[in-house]
Amino acid sequence: MQRLLVTGGAGFIGSNFVHYVMSTTENFVTVLDKLTYAGNLESLKHLPADRFQFVKGDICDQPLVDDLVAAHDVVVHYAAESHNDNSLQDPRPFLDTNIIGTYTLIEAARKHNKRFHHISTDEVYGDLELDDPERFTENTPYNPSSPYSSTKAGSDLLVRAWVRSFGLQATISNCSNNYGPYQHVEKFIPRQITNVIAGIRPKLYGKGENVRDWIHANDHSSAVLAIIDKGLIGETYLIGADGEKNNKEVVELILAHMGQPRDAYDHVVDRAGHDLRYAIDSTKLRTELGWQPQFSNFDAGIEDTIDWYRANEDWWRPQKAATEAKYKEQGQ
Ligand code: NAD
Ligand code: DAU
Repeated sequence: MQRLLVTGGAGFIGSNFVHYVMSTTENFVTVLDKLTYAGNLESLKHLPADRFQFVKGDICDQPLVDDLVAAHDVVVHYAAESHNDNSLQDPRPFLDTNIIGTYTLIEAARKHNKRFHHISTDEVYGDLELDDPERFTENTPYNPSSPYSSTKAGSDLLVRAWVRSFGLQATISNCSNNYGPYQHVEKFIPRQITNVIAGIRPKLYGKGENVRDWIHANDHSSAVLAIIDKGLIGETYLIGADGEKNNKEVVELILAHMGQPRDAYDHVVDRAGHDLRYAIDSTKLRTELGWQPQFSNFDAGIEDTIDWYRANEDWWRPQKAATEAKYKEQGQ
């Protein structure tokens, strides 16, 4: 039994990880989360009280972080400002949480000599051409495009420097786009599903040719557990499930599953600096740690995700109107 401190565990991927850990291990989990607009305690309901606790707090709060890190065996660091569009409107919170927050955590992990796993993103590598034969690997040079991805890149580099200079017991993973339950309605897939439920036409940025490499959140969770268990200190592992699709294909799939004409969407203003394509080569994770994704059928995964949003309107309705109002102001 290990005691895990999961930062950002009230967000999309963090909450999926907590549910995954609870159902597949005997570990004790503490979630540290500031409950920003993206955090939701409703995502952490029905967890066993003898193996789970929630602490509301900021990862930049040094005394709080120091106490919590000292009391746990492993820190799994998900907390971040995570949305590219928000980072284009107001970058400051991204610098605070993604850079200073990560710094605060790794200083505490160094002081107390704790195992640290840093959750990052494939966006640190920039983007690929549509016909590029190479995908991202652990050796691809960093080339982030947005305030969001540049702060994630900065946080990765801090972790690498702390490993080399101070012997921090850390690993890093860079994952591709996740989908599944508990994702905020600002993000692409839940936005379009909840738009259709709410009688609003889905919105596609630009021509919809941008490609994302989709992975189910449970597959991300199993990969993170494999890295915590078997990963080598100082190593980076890319996580991906060979799920490349362009945005137009994804919207059309959602519309088809929801009984709508395939062309019942609007093209809207494109994202500034919009990355064209992400694609992950996860050979290292698969061959060295023996990890395999379980959710290889994207079509079925999208159907399950649609069912989840249909069955959980109470979870997403409170955020929907404000999210759409903000997008409307931006012409999106
Ligand atoms: P999210 O926005 O859904 O959740 C972020 C969580 O962090 C929220 O619960 C929020 O309240 C919390 N948080 C934010 N600032 C905080 C602070 N200062 N102190 C404590 N808690 C704070 O994000 P997500 O999509 O679940 O992403 C989680 C992590 O995974 C991020 O590090 C992100 O970069 C990474 N990631 C995301 C994806 C994806 O597809 N969403 C893919 C790869 C990597
Ligand atoms: O690749 C991993 C990254 O994936 C994570 O690091 C980020 O935290 C996560 O938000 C996600 O970033 P993206 O920018 O790729 O995700 P988003 O859901 O915002 O958009 C996915 C694609 O869909 C992107 O090409 C923009 C497009 N899009 C998005 C929205 C919200 C639309 O066409 N319409 C929309 O309404």
